[in-house]
Amino acid sequence: MASQWRWPARVAVLWALLAHQPGWRSPHCLTMFRVPIGWMQSLISLIHDDEKPPLLTAREGGGGSPGPPGNVSRIGLPEYDWGMNAIHGVQSSCIKDDDGTVYCPTSFPNPVNYGFTWNYSAYLELGRIIGVETRALWLAGAVEASTWSGRPHIGLDTWSPNINIARSPLWGRNQEVPGEDPFMNGQFGKAYTLGLQGDDDTYLQAIVTLKHWDAYSLEDSDGATRHNFNAIVSNFSLMDTYWPAFRVAVTEGKAKGVMCSYNAVNGIPTCAHPLLRTVLRDLWKFDGYVSSDTGAVEDISDNHKYTPSWATAACAAIRDGQTDIDSGAVYMKSLLQGVSEGHCRMEDVDNALRNTLRLRFELGLFDPVENQSYWHVPLAAVNTNASRATNMLHTLESMVLLQNKNNVLPLASNTKVALIGPHAKAQEDMVGNYLGQLCPDNNFDCVVSPHDALVSILGTDAVTYAPGTNVTTCSQSHIDEAVSVATAADVAVLMLGIDESIEAESNDRKSIDLPECQHQLASAIFAVGKPTVIVLLNGGMLAIENEKQQADAIIEAGYPGFYGGTAIAQTLTGQNEHLGDYINWINMSDMEMTSGPGRTYRYYKNETLWAFHF
Ligand SMILES: *[C@@H]1O[C@H](CO)[C@@H](O)[C@H](O)[C@H]1NC(C)=O
Ligand SMILES: *[C@@H]1O[C@H](CO)[C@@H](O)[C@H](O)[C@H]1NC(C)=O
Ligand SMILES: *[C@@H]1O[C@H](CO)[C@@H](O)[C@H](O)[C@H]1NC(C)=O
Ligand SMILES: *[C@@H]1O[C@H](CO)[C@@H](O)[C@H](O)[C@H]1NC(C)=O
Ligand SMILES: *[C@@H]1O[C@H](CO)[C@@H](O)[C@H](O)[C@H]1NC(C)=O
Ligand SMILES: *[C@@H]1O[C@H](CO)[C@@H](O)[C@H](O)[C@H]1NC(C)=O
Ligand SMILES: *[C@@H]1O[C@H](CO)[C@@H](O)[C@H](O)[C@H]1NC(C)=O
Ligand SMILES: *[C@@H]1O[C@H](CO)[C@@H](O)[C@H](O)[C@H]1NC(C)=O
Repeated sequence: MASQWRWPARVAVLWALLAHQPGWRSPHCLTMFRVPIGWMQSLISLIHDDEKPPLLTAREGGGGSPGPPGNVSRIGLPEYDWGMNAIHGVQSSCIKDDDGTVYCPTSFPNPVNYGFTWNYSAYLELGRIIGVETRALWLAGAVEASTWSGRPHIGLDTWSPNINIARSPLWGRNQEVPGEDPFMNGQFGKAYTLGLQGDDDTYLQAIVTLKHWDAYSLEDSDGATRHNFNAIVSNFSLMDTYWPAFRVAVTEGKAKGVMCSYNAVNGIPTCAHPLLRTVLRDLWKFDGYVSSDTGAVEDISDNHKYTPSWATAACAAIRDGQTDIDSGAVYMKSLLQGVSEGHCRMEDVDNALRNTLRLRFELGLFDPVENQSYWHVPLAAVNTNASRATNMLHTLESMVLLQNKNNVLPLASNTKVALIGPHAKAQEDMVGNYLGQLCPDNNFDCVVSPHDALVSILGTDAVTYAPGTNVTTCSQSHIDEAVSVATAADVAVLMLGIDESIEAESNDRKSIDLPECQHQLASAIFAVGKPTVIVLLNGGMLAIENEKQQADAIIEAGYPGFYGGTAIAQTLTGQNEHLGDYINWINMSDMEMTSGPGRTYRYYKNETLWAFHF
């Protein structure tokens, strides 16, 4: 373990300082939610002005220095990273223990698959396991998995869950959210929060950061990007669609963190928006911290042109209890300038310190550790047999059998299967986005593909394979090869769909159609005349009108994650007992749910292919 982990010594210094402040009682009764105002004032009065911006900055704040900057070594205040992603598993490095055993965080199905499960207990269990693993990996010194973040030591507050509404199938981040229903997303946010923050009476296990507030679901469409998009939203849509999930996660889940988004709402960038104060803190009694999305404070001046400079942007964000933490470089470089120029007050800065340091108390970071169970979570608690079994169960529950004509499924054990398509040997494409390190060698080799899982059930001789096409490019020779493989088999299984090159953060789709090459492949295989099954990998829905008519069976697999291959193979072979173009008519930047044919299943006025909850 790294030498930076000599916290008790540092914390002792902090206590010693605090003990001489008025209001200090005893070191082990800093109870949750109730850090006495006197103590907090004492602590804040110990911090020099120039030490404040680093405490209010996530990751390395664009400074290029390794590690998070939240330390004030002079008074024993240790570093703390305010930004760690955990959308469907801790997004950290693996860690080797003293025996040489490597522990990698459990990687669950993408949240869209959790929507498919309809299992609200699974949402709680997902949060709980991520919370336990966050503690264990943090204690062991794991660092963030993404290189662009500077790979700081992870913190205990996670930038998850994502509970935005899947407003449009074109949105690039549909895989990150359970779905289009405000109630379901609220249940997801609430249960994930209760699981992750833990059920200790005194301390928080870890902290959620509900994202992205507010009315966020456009990456790059209609000439706008998420960094300059001004969402015009009626009060009706805010209250009926965009807010309910956040409200439930805050008021019932007791979420301790919220992230403000890149876009503006009705002319005001969300991180500078008074709604953070009036709705979140005053109306819903939110008592946690607000972090900006990475670079969102920069956007206030640089892209929205809402203020003329970084100093004014910093102040617009931090003023009046709005945005406490900047994931970016603006607070670090320009917050104190903003204060000295009179755009906001030092009291605003201290208020943000209060909101954030309070959480570090509630996490038990300043109390004696010996009686805190969350300080004694061993690495062996990471990726346990039990969490793997839970992961497998949730993955199986997330498979959706959309269609099964002529009982083509399940495949009998003596079936000769032609496994065809760009996702037949998917590994990386199956696990989606926001990934921690999955395999000890930092690749995707340990992810079992649908092909390998099917072979292990039916045997090598029973499964023949041809790629047929890539996701978007194809050649006649590969399609011909796939046709001959299908001709020689009893059943064709087509593994189709899309990937991160087509739907991703910063990248909305322009069409919901299955890529043309895959239509061509499917048509060629249907023409062979064998029973044909389609398995789809995707986050946002795909238009497959022709395939729906011609295929015997269709399985929707989402981005099923680490155990996706096994879950797909078990679903095909009947071992899964846990089953459960409108797009051109409205433009992407129109936030009204009732426009045109209507958004999401709640407002859609036409006939549906498959009803919501199918
Ligand atoms: C934080 O720690 C680093 C490395 O120990 C040190 O160089 C730096 O001065 C510390 N920052 C503060 C504000 O104490
Ligand atoms: C739902 O998830 C929970 C928690 O993982 C699990 O115990 C349960 O078996 C799952 N399935 C159903 C149908 O509840
Ligand atoms: C929305 O509600 C707020 C708060 O009640 C009000 O100030 C604002 O005028 C309303 N906006 C519209 C367009 O009605
Ligand atoms: C920890 O618990 C033990 C047993 O209840 C108690 O004797 C000890 O004082 C506690 N330590 C602290 C620092 O509270
Ligand atoms: C986990 O499962 C493996 C194989 O199923 C078994 O060998 C091992 O003993 C189990 N570990 C624990 C801690 O139960
Ligand atoms: C996929 O693309 C690569 C690179 O262009 C090409 O070499 C390969 O033949 C393609 N495979 C199929 C199945 O079309
Ligand atoms: C799309 O919708 C927005 C918001 O209602 C509107 O301002 C814009 O003019 C629309 N664009 C087109 C091409 O209809
Ligand atoms: C409804 O669906 C029909 C065909 O199913 C289509 O012709 C029509 O344009 C659609 N209209 C609207 C408003 O959704």
